[in-house]
Amino acid sequence: MKALIVSGGKGTRLRPLTYTSAKQLVPVANKPVLVRVIETVRAAGLTDVGIVVGDTAPEIQRVIGDGSRWGINIEYIQQSAPLGLAHAVLESEAWLGDSRFVMFLGDNVIQGGINQLISEFAHSDWNAQVVLTRVAEPQHYGVAIIEDGHIVRLIEKPRQPPSDLALVGIYMFDPHIFEAVHAIQPSWRGEYEITDAIQWLIEHGYRVHPYIHTGWWIDTGKTVDMLAANVRVLDEIEPYCAGYVDRDSAVSGKVTIEKGAEIINSVIRGPAIIGEETRIVNSYVGPFTSIYHHCVVENSEIEHSIILENCEIRDLPARLEDSLIGRNVVIGRSPVKPKAYKMILGDHSQVGVL
Ligand code: G1P
Repeated sequence: MKALIVSGGKGTRLRPLTYTSAKQLVPVANKPVLVRVIETVRAAGLTDVGIVVGDTAPEIQRVIGDGSRWGINIEYIQQSAPLGLAHAVLESEAWLGDSRFVMFLGDNVIQGGINQLISEFAHSDWNAQVVLTRVAEPQHYGVAIIEDGHIVRLIEKPRQPPSDLALVGIYMFDPHIFEAVHAIQPSWRGEYEITDAIQWLIEHGYRVHPYIHTGWWIDTGKTVDMLAANVRVLDEIEPYCAGYVDRDSAVSGKVTIEKGAEIINSVIRGPAIIGEETRIVNSYVGPFTSIYHHCVVENSEIEHSIILENCEIRDLPARLEDSLIGRNVVIGRSPVKPKAYKMILGDHSQVGVL
């Protein structure tokens, strides 16, 4: 079996981070979501991996490389235009050939991996398998109606959802999916929907097996989802310390301190992760915080946040919470009068002041 990871898209709901970076490369618990997806696929024994890329192809290729790091082969498939997931499959037809394959959206994080799903599908005669899970707001997803254990209908983002069973961004197909992606028309949003292609399979008598996932699953498309994924993943990390904690500091709960990190006169209360070469000085880092590599946090408090690499956060008069901070950001108190907020923010930034 092959794995097709879809990693295009503009990431508009994660702006401004996605003006300069691919959404799939935003880290959750200090590891880019796309790397988590690759590791999940690898853990299921798949070594032939295609990554469908769009405008952010150069950055993705630079960060991910040829797969040798994971002992896999990665082939990049350039999508000619962002015309939807079924279009991504269509444009991958030559690479996929007659293999059965799993399609995994590069911004999805799922609890427990996909090993069982892959082996069930590999040993079945199903033409497709879809992963479903119960969600609170099904109108934002593809939704399934199931009767007697069979899928009778799939609808993409219905205004009035007929069920709370959403399509998780993980699908398994045999080559019959190509008939479907060639046959369907674009949806109201102008995209060739994979949901419509699977609906086509059902209507044409192919066997589409539903798998109901009961663990957590997060599509990290928006900031709140990113923070939610961070909470889930941090909760499952193995605590370890490869850095330095001085004797005036207190570290409690599940905390990972990566190589070269330094904790000086600070309190770290897990679950939390402190990245390589990051310095935490006279500060408090509270639960569900991921601070990436080469950051400095000094005389400040941070909780329930994701901080990307090379940030400097100093002397904050109040706690930073529920925040997603991009690369190379500097936050601090103005040293000179007049006393005022001074900000250099990219488009679509959001700041909440006291
Ligand atoms: C896509 C699919 C949708 C699915 C979702 C899962 O939505 O079209 O059916 O539920 O992924 O993440 P999109 O991310 O394109 O809005």
